[in-house]
Amino acid sequence: MQQVRSEGKSIGFIPTMGALHEGHISLISLAAQANTVTVCSIFVNPTQFNNAEDLAKYPRTTEQDIDLLTRADCDVLYLPNVADVYPNGTTLATPYPLGYLDTILEGAYRPGHFQGVAQVVDRFLEIVQPDTLYLGRKDYQQCMVLKHIATLKHPAINVAFSPTLREPDGLAMSSRNRRLTEPQRALAGVIYQCLISIQGKREEGNFAIVKKECEELLEKKGFRVDYVALADADTLELLEEYAPNRKMVALIAAYIGNVRLIDNIEL
Ligand code: PAJ
Repeated sequence: MQQVRSEGKSIGFIPTMGALHEGHISLISLAAQANTVTVCSIFVNPTQFNNAEDLAKYPRTTEQDIDLLTRADCDVLYLPNVADVYPNGTTLATPYPLGYLDTILEGAYRPGHFQGVAQVVDRFLEIVQPDTLYLGRKDYQQCMVLKHIATLKHPAINVAFSPTLREPDGLAMSSRNRRLTEPQRALAGVIYQCLISIQGKREEGNFAIVKKECEELLEKKGFRVDYVALADADTLELLEEYAPNRKMVALIAAYIGNVRLIDNIEL
């Protein structure tokens, strides 16, 4: 990497937890268009899982991933083990100052999750020292957390956000989708339908009603809803109602069986 940098070449970096799909590959393509060298990491980071079963069941498909990366525009695969990433152990000496972002939505429902995400990506940025970090908007709050950490600890690194890739029925591509049974998979598109309806009813101006309709529909279909929320797109300040003059984002987190899915749409 040092040589790459000394030759004035730029490095684009895409951190992942593997079980790669087209969403990941789209980040790699975006990075490849703008950089000389594209580095992808695959590491199922234990410190960001607040649920032991989720960590144990996280899909691991390394051979297939390598195959996909070989065919994509990826130049370097970084495939570390836990000791490489955390030579001094996984315990975090000082929590990252994530403030409000760590207290709402994913922060509230997955305590410690963003501390683990910040910890691993901070470490990767130290190791890889890319010019640009590429992140998917599918994980909207994660984008905000990591932009904050990059600005704070690695101000020279750019952060680029990339749009969400979806299946034909609107389901956001996700490694966790592999864990859905066929009937669960058939239902999973309802999350996106809810987001579209929240977006479409913006002009009607009654989010409280739309939110209730979405929660009821999801529950009727058998989901367990963590949240259906509306927030300011820049600050993630939670909004009770549509704010006509603000850029907003609607976010949903819900379980189908024991698989937890998240998605969002900007409006
Ligand atoms: P992972 O879920 O593997 O996602 C890796 C990157 O791919 C993230 O930036 C994520 O937002 C993006 N991504 C996932 N699904 C996408 C989709 N359907 N369309 C576009 N981009 C998508 O997010 C993580 O891993 C981890 O938290 C990580 C940042 C690697 C830290 O461990």
